[in-house]
Amino acid sequence: MAGLATDPAYYDDPYPSYERLRERGRVVRNGFVAGTVDHAVANAVLRSDQFSSSALGELPGPLQRLHARVRDEDTLSPVDPPSMLVVDPPVHTRYRRLVARAFTARKVGRMADRVESVAARLLDDLDGEPTFDLVGRYASQLPVAVIADLLGVPDDERAQVLGWGNHAAVTLDPGLTWAQYRSSSAALREMHAWFDGHLDRLRRDPGNDLLSQVLADPEAADLTRMELHGIGLLVLGAGFETTVNLIGNAVALLDAHPDQLAWLEDNPDGWANAVEEVLRVDSPVQLTVRFATQDTEVADEAVRAGEGVLVYLGGANRDPGVFSDPGTFDVRRDNAGEHVAFSAGIHFCLGASLARLEAAVALRALYERHPDLRVVGRPERRTTRVLRGFEYLPVSTLARV
Ligand code: HEM
Repeated sequence: MAGLATDPAYYDDPYPSYERLRERGRVVRNGFVAGTVDHAVANAVLRSDQFSSSALGELPGPLQRLHARVRDEDTLSPVDPPSMLVVDPPVHTRYRRLVARAFTARKVGRMADRVESVAARLLDDLDGEPTFDLVGRYASQLPVAVIADLLGVPDDERAQVLGWGNHAAVTLDPGLTWAQYRSSSAALREMHAWFDGHLDRLRRDPGNDLLSQVLADPEAADLTRMELHGIGLLVLGAGFETTVNLIGNAVALLDAHPDQLAWLEDNPDGWANAVEEVLRVDSPVQLTVRFATQDTEVADEAVRAGEGVLVYLGGANRDPGVFSDPGTFDVRRDNAGEHVAFSAGIHFCLGASLARLEAAVALRALYERHPDLRVVGRPERRTTRVLRGFEYLPVSTLARV
């Protein structure tokens, strides 16, 4: 039961299963894995130095050997070390510091104009098309442009790199099918080869992008090839699909709550809080996992060294002890920002302020241009468990009822 994410109904609507888990306790054990939807426990586990985000070191010897056989250096994904997502301090601290310099509030603030102009251009391109797929034509196009800028990808290589990025994002999910595993490995292999050439190019001819900045940093002088690839791959894997999902989830929620949309039209300063509420009520990243590095205790429950705790971020964000009437979407909620949609502790999302900016700009621009926009037809959810969003979200700009 703690492994809810193996239930197919979870794709469509994970929230009832979180409530069943909540009824059973703050930490629910199932064999070698535990799960939590409790906001305080989630925070405690994510902030604890007695837990690690790296499973590999804790895997029994035969599993480590299997992993080494199926993944070689040229198919490493954003959830394989040396990705910063799955390494512990002090190595994590070093990688994080290098990348964090590119995500200062000032630098993100400077990207605002670019985000606004990309959103306006995308909407111009859609002029005269009363119906379109919001995900394919808008929600994915904005983060694509932003990530390509961040990685310094030349215009004519963007489509290719972002296609690989989709495969990289798929690897965030546990329990890939063999077919997904094979296609993601093939894409990752091509991508690592591209990164070699791209990094050489940026060494010769640096730009204003994050990778050029890392390469120029004296502290990064001895980073290995794979450490540099790990940074690029993670930014691509973590920063793209998550933001697409946030924008798509927001449009679906606002469509279901026209009164809230009407309020935002009259109160455009409310968009930032509305984005927090979307992050809370339909989190683009639903779960993460931590492994105890020593025998320890969470919420009076013993956890043995090496055991995993599934932290259901989407469930913790509906904890009734923190959020009143937690299933209700309310863009004016005054503690919407207390969610853990960006995680907590040392792995707190490095791109959070950028994602917030992108979503607020994208949504505001969309509804200013198309106040009558409505979801039409049959939206399709993605069949991923860690990432929650839409694969296809058909909309009409002329459809207000
Ligand atoms: C880490 C969510 C957008 C870069 C994380 C984690 C979460 C998350 C939950 C931590 C996972 C864990 O604790 O195991 C999101 C969501 C986003 C988003 C919901 C959009 C709505 C972005 C963007 C970027 C980015 C736009 C960069 C361009 C990163 C990086 C990490 C990270 C580098 C690793 C941090 C570390 O390990 O120290 N993100 N993210 N994310 N995110 Fe995001």
